[in-house]
Amino acid sequence: MNKIIERKMIVPNMHLLTLEAPDIASKVKPGQFVIVRANDEGERIPLSVADWDEEKGTVTIIFMEVGASTGALACLAAGDSVATCVGPLGNETEIGNFGTVMCVGGCYGIGSLYPVVKALKKAGNRVIMVFEARSNYLIYWVDKYIKLADKIFNVTRDGSLGLKGHISCLPDIINGLPNPPDRVIVNGCTFLMARTSEMTRDPGIPTVVNLNPIMIDGTGMCGVCRVTINGKMKFACVDGPEFSGHEVDWKEFLSRRKAYLEEEVLFFRRSEPKQAVHKEGKCQT
Ligand code: FES
Repeated sequence: MNKIIERKMIVPNMHLLTLEAPDIASKVKPGQFVIVRANDEGERIPLSVADWDEEKGTVTIIFMEVGASTGALACLAAGDSVATCVGPLGNETEIGNFGTVMCVGGCYGIGSLYPVVKALKKAGNRVIMVFEARSNYLIYWVDKYIKLADKIFNVTRDGSLGLKGHISCLPDIINGLPNPPDRVIVNGCTFLMARTSEMTRDPGIPTVVNLNPIMIDGTGMCGVCRVTINGKMKFACVDGPEFSGHEVDWKEFLSRRKAYLEEEVLFFRRSEPKQAVHKEGKCQT
């Protein structure tokens, strides 16, 4: 059991969760993840670590409420506990002095990129941030990134902030720079990672993605997180979660991510009359 220190919705549908986990906080590195279960019957959810405090022994996660399990997690509040928090898992992000690194974040990826950007800056890189969201009110932690990033671009689908459109306008951003970035790192939804990788392929910009497949054990035992990288089978939990975006079989990845979509829909249909609503951190039915 890990005690919850803080749980709050930071933008609609996006939650910050800080857990007491001293063993994880003393070892975790940028790019790694934990597996969390909200309760004893809960699904095991892999979630990237967005921040940690070694002294206080806490880790912070940003997660999006998308289904039954993340919904259960979103109903917990400070003082409650989660049944499981295992980690740190996966390999850490490769950090070096690459030159200029463009970090593209959307959704929960804005949070998970934060330790990566801190480490990149410490290693002497110039960091260009690109935030992608449906609208300006879905972009968060800008105050944190302003202190780190050399330049920040925003792309919103409704044009409420920065460039209007999808991440498809990334070439416009890159072409407007004096030199293309030496590396691109993308965290966020599958579409964002796949589309960004597609656009950096021709210019030959190395592109790192942080894959988020369904997982069970997170230690290479079950095979559920199987992905195809450059034609070879890999396990995202132990071989990743980071891979070259140019080598991922995105079609297969997307179809495996949707494997339990029908069950999710059925769950919500069955639970509709009693559907839980979280208000001010507490669950009300
Ligand atoms: Fe089981 Fe990766 S989650 S092998």
